[in-house]
Amino acid sequence: MNLGLIPLIVYLYFFSNSLVDTVAQPAFVGPPPLALNCGSKDGGSDANNRKWESDAKYLVAADKSVSSTALTQEASLSSDVPYMTARIFNGETSYKFNVNSTSRYIIRLHFYPSNYPDYNISNSYFVVTIGAITLLRNFSAFITAEALSQAYLIREYSLAAFNSDSITLTFKPGVDKSFAFVNGIELITEPELFDDQAGLVGVADTAGTIDGVSSNMQNMFRLNVGGQFIPPTNDSGGLMRSWYDDTPYMFGAGTISHVGNITIDYKDLPEATAPADVYRTARSQGPDPNINKQSNVTWVFQVDANFTYLVRFHFCEYHLDKINQRVFEIKLNNETAFNTADIIAWTGGKGIPTRKDYAVYIGNKPGIDAELWVTMHTNIDLKPEFYDILLNGLEVFKLSDSQSNLAGRNPVPSKMMQKQLIENRAAHDPNRKSRKQVIVGGAVGGAATVGVAAAVLFMIRKRRRRVSGSDPGATSWLPVYGNSASKSTTSGKSHGSSSLSTDAVCNCRYFSLMEIKRATNNFDESKVVGVGGFGKVYKGVVDGNIMVAVKRSNPSSEQGVNEFVTEIEMLSKLRHRHLVSLIGFCEEGNEMVLVYDYMGKGTLREHLYKGNKITLSWKQRLDILIGAAKGLHYLHTGAKYTIIHRDVKTTNILCDDKWVAKVSDFGLSKTGPNMTQNHVSTVVKGSFGYLDPEYFRRQQLTEKSDVYSFGVVLFEVLCARPALNPSLPKEQVSLADYALQSARKGTLEEMVDPQLKGKIKPEAFKKFTDCSLKCLSDHGLERPSMGDVLWTLESVHRIETKAEETRNSPKSPSSSIGMVEVPIDNTDMIAMHLNTLNLDNDDDDDYDDPEDDAAIFSQIINPKGR
Ligand SMILES: *[C@@H]1O[C@H](CO)[C@@H](O)[C@H](O)[C@H]1NC(C)=O
Ligand SMILES: *[C@@H]1O[C@H](CO)[C@@H](O)[C@H](O)[C@H]1NC(C)=O
Ligand SMILES: *[C@@H]1O[C@H](CO)[C@@H](O)[C@H](O)[C@H]1NC(C)=O
Ligand SMILES: *[C@@H]1O[C@H](CO)[C@@H](O)[C@H](O)[C@H]1NC(C)=O
Ligand SMILES: *[C@@H]1O[C@H](CO)[C@@H](O)[C@H](O)[C@H]1NC(C)=O
Ligand SMILES: *[C@@H]1O[C@H](CO)[C@@H](O)[C@H](O)[C@H]1NC(C)=O
Ligand SMILES: *[C@@H]1O[C@H](CO)[C@@H](O)[C@H](O)[C@H]1NC(C)=O
Ligand SMILES: *[C@@H]1O[C@H](CO)[C@@H](O)[C@H](O)[C@H]1NC(C)=O
Repeated sequence: MNLGLIPLIVYLYFFSNSLVDTVAQPAFVGPPPLALNCGSKDGGSDANNRKWESDAKYLVAADKSVSSTALTQEASLSSDVPYMTARIFNGETSYKFNVNSTSRYIIRLHFYPSNYPDYNISNSYFVVTIGAITLLRNFSAFITAEALSQAYLIREYSLAAFNSDSITLTFKPGVDKSFAFVNGIELITEPELFDDQAGLVGVADTAGTIDGVSSNMQNMFRLNVGGQFIPPTNDSGGLMRSWYDDTPYMFGAGTISHVGNITIDYKDLPEATAPADVYRTARSQGPDPNINKQSNVTWVFQVDANFTYLVRFHFCEYHLDKINQRVFEIKLNNETAFNTADIIAWTGGKGIPTRKDYAVYIGNKPGIDAELWVTMHTNIDLKPEFYDILLNGLEVFKLSDSQSNLAGRNPVPSKMMQKQLIENRAAHDPNRKSRKQVIVGGAVGGAATVGVAAAVLFMIRKRRRRVSGSDPGATSWLPVYGNSASKSTTSGKSHGSSSLSTDAVCNCRYFSLMEIKRATNNFDESKVVGVGGFGKVYKGVVDGNIMVAVKRSNPSSEQGVNEFVTEIEMLSKLRHRHLVSLIGFCEEGNEMVLVYDYMGKGTLREHLYKGNKITLSWKQRLDILIGAAKGLHYLHTGAKYTIIHRDVKTTNILCDDKWVAKVSDFGLSKTGPNMTQNHVSTVVKGSFGYLDPEYFRRQQLTEKSDVYSFGVVLFEVLCARPALNPSLPKEQVSLADYALQSARKGTLEEMVDPQLKGKIKPEAFKKFTDCSLKCLSDHGLERPSMGDVLWTLESVHRIETKAEETRNSPKSPSSSIGMVEVPIDNTDMIAMHLNTLNLDNDDDDDYDDPEDDAAIFSQIINPKGR
């Protein structure tokens, strides 16, 4: 990789569309696509302002169906339409659609498995067929959504021409009290996108190829590799597909995402193949050819066994323009699909997209979840100019089997997950408790769990008494999710018997107990690097030389199951340079173990005060804050749904050996709503000193609660003092209160860490404190977004850097919000996976110890001091 790449690497979060133009082919025009809002009287518009019509006129025997409205609206529902209304079928019922007999069609089914009046969703099992093709069989939308932890499901099929002018879509409920339902149906003409023969990988040459044109398939995954989520309304060809971020599927290895400043010229490729945004963004390995030669880039997908999968690769070179500059191998499930992939050889130039299809059969391996591995590796034999790979988009389609069946089995959520789901549901039940009780329960329960939550991986805690009536001696290595106001601690949990399903839930690795024991020398006491109420954390080594942190539950613990599950679910889906990586987990017998990257420098907090080993310079502090802000910004905006961390504080910001900051501890995280709704109601959780006062008052969690907590972190870093310090005079106990008061009095400068005095440029100081104070605003609306905070921190950093640079060279770096260029040595985009995690064993007398509850409570009960 040469330095010519630098201007092309663009910081993705600020990716601006305006940089590029598209040379558009005339768009494909088919008959008007159908979008049915099932069960509604007159349709409606969704959050993207797309129109949906009523399904009534397409129904063939309407007497066996009823329209209904969901009883609850989940916060993570992206849009009311089409999800809040449903068509419910008590007997076999069909829709009839007129179609063009020679066209391919995309059919998309939307399911929102909520409860509907008089129907218990857990009884719903059904079959869906279209013509002779079985789309779903014994399908439980409820079980599937729970196992995938999604509020709603979309099933998308691409079907070969029907050879008939009309087609019936049939819903058939299972036996007993079962019923079928559907919330939305889309039927869209698809131009012929599968006219290539796809080579079948891993079988003798004679076994041949897959013919796409006559294939019926289900889209399983559709990824904008190296790019962002692309909503249906931004898809090309009017096909209304969603393109997702690929990072949740990435397995190990360092990679870089790129946004190419290029014009996409589709040439002969139908524009409907993929939108230009897919071809503009890409992922490659990184600047070091030696690392690239030894590693590969892998994506792993959970799939249904006993099907053939067609894997479509989208390529578009954005930078190089000669043959043999970048040549790589493509493997599917470790078998070579193509070993001399050279994009320029295929397309003839940069900015010209292409796609390649390969197919692979995935059989049944008893006891192992079926997985599809997509691996790319630079071709060393051909000695290309750059040892690297490139991928822009990836789609995975399941092909129907010999019985024209596309249905897989329902995923199996483990008992552990089921338990959590039941508790979550109970916690969200509005009838369960009056609001006031929830507040009280939340505050009290919060006090009990807060310290444990704080502990997470790295902090050593004293045993603390629990307020919630459980055995005061009982310890838990993870706090119980939803515990605070519920009685779950007394319900006699047992978790040892179940095995957490890795099915689609978890993209991370499963470790056997044997492996874990080997890694930690059979939980050798000398390997303990942290102990807490939650159990012990061990330093370990896996795969010969990879350092890991092994978090082990106390085997006698009856709690923590839910955080265990939440943490796995959250972290296995998230991969980001500034988030701590979960490598895997083990659940066997009574043991629950999580395996993380080992972080060499430990927590941010331990470098700020409390016997800090090294005093961090102002610039170092800024770097760490910028990293943490990026991690949080990613949580808030990078994934499809907003994820609210809920426990942002200096002990949850860790640094690896190279001082790269990473946000950790997702045990309390909440998948939040999209833009359409703006809060989640929930029991108050978090750590005192960092808690958003508005969240306390209203129990409405928004991402701005994280911004508040981060504001406290900003002051903690600036002032090098804890968020709560009960030993100080009353008005100074809470850092947030103290900062706000000082700002009013104009005495902020007095708070600054003496070690930083005179080292901060006045302009930078003003920017930094203005932003930090805004974060502490009483109302979420007045607080900046994490993106704004990040931008401010980066500009503060630039002010400080410029001050240094102008002494050396007079060039003035200019940057705008729209686009930030990342120099290559800023390894920002390189998701180096195997960093390390230090678990420091200093016995930390916490500011949030139960002894301090009095001070803490005064802060809660009297929030007006803020
Ligand atoms: C059906 O689709 C084909 C292309 O797939 C098109 O040529 C033809 O005109 C269409 N027929 C009708 C009746 O729309
Ligand atoms: C729905 O059915 C399930 C299992 O059949 C049962 O456990 C649950 O309590 C029912 N829910 C309601 C609200 O009746
Ligand atoms: C979708 O397209 C609109 C209009 O072209 C653009 O403003 C918006 O940023 C796009 N959204 C995404 C997520 O690409
Ligand atoms: C993008 O490319 C165009 C033309 O090649 C050039 O004028 C423009 O400065 C480039 N923009 C960036 C941000 O590099
Ligand atoms: C990918 O790289 C890893 C580490 O170098 C190696 O162990 C593995 O076998 C490679 N996988 C494939 C499919 O090449
Ligand atoms: C796959 O096929 C085998 C053999 O026919 C069968 O035993 C197995 O249960 C099937 N697996 C799935 C997930 O359908
Ligand atoms: C591919 O190979 C790796 C090790 O090289 C192994 O861990 C993985 O399970 C293999 N994947 C499949 C699908 O066989
Ligand atoms: C239907 O699905 C449920 C839940 O996955 C399963 O327990 C049951 O055995 C399935 N029934 C059939 C007939 O496959």
